[in-house]
This record gives sequence, structure tokens and C-alpha cells, in this order.
Amino acid sequence: MALYSKKVMEHFTNPQNVGKIENADGVGEVGNAKCGDIMKIYLKVNDDGIIEDVKFNTFGCASAIASSSMATCLIKGKHISEAIALSNKAVVEALDGLPAVKIHCSVLAEEAIKEAVKDYYDRKGIKYDPETLAEIKD
Ligand code: FES
Repeated sequence: MALYSKKVMEHFTNPQNVGKIENADGVGEVGNAKCGDIMKIYLKVNDDGIIEDVKFNTFGCASAIASSSMATCLIKGKHISEAIALSNKAVVEALDGLPAVKIHCSVLAEEAIKEAVKDYYDRKGIKYDPETLAEIKD
């Protein structure tokens, strides 16, 4: 059996949403101390909380690039509340699996999105639960 699924290869060789958003509403950057890989996610969010655009830059392995690409596809056009609910497990499932030693690469994608959402909340002055990242309405 091939080490990587067809979906992983597709998203690695032809990654979606690569780049940077000028004047992004939220930016999240995370790194993995062990492998040294870095992932940066940019969000453009409209007044209704819908993610109109999302881009990423990843300095990392094939799995990290495929995970970033898939994660951005999964949250584009969705509400912020759906983006914070995205788990690395959902990213792995959408990629039709990752080798066990590469699961941490998908964790980077989940974490980078959460950091970008936190940045968005901070910039907008939106209060949120630090555990769940759910918006706290007054
Ligand atoms: Fe570091 Fe994949 S080996 S993110």
C-alpha cells in the first residue's frame, strides 16, 4: 500500500489557497518544535463572521502542506464557529488518512486556524472562551 493517499498527493502536488492575504482579519502562526516546521494561516472574515477567504504558507513536510491545503478548503466559506470546531481528525479523514508518524502535521493545521481565529477576535475586541474559543455574547 502506498504510504500516502491519493488525496494527500493531490493536495501536496497542487495545494489550494497558498499565499498571503494583505489586510487579513486574523493571522495565526504555529510551529512544531520537534521537526521545525512552521505554518501560517490568514483569514478574511466578513461582518457576518463568514470566512470569505483563507490562505496559508507552510514551511514544512508534504503532510503539513497537504493538511494546510485541506484545512483551508474545509473552512473557506464557513462561519468562524465552524472553523474553531475543525479538528485535526477531520482534516486527516478528509485526506483519507495520514501515516501515524505524520498525524502531528495535521495538528499544526488545526492549531494555526485556532490561532488565526484568536487573532481575529482580539483585533475585533470580541470576547471568547479561552478553552473552546466560542464567542461570548453579552
Ligand atoms: Fe513536521 Fe510534518 S514533519 S509538520
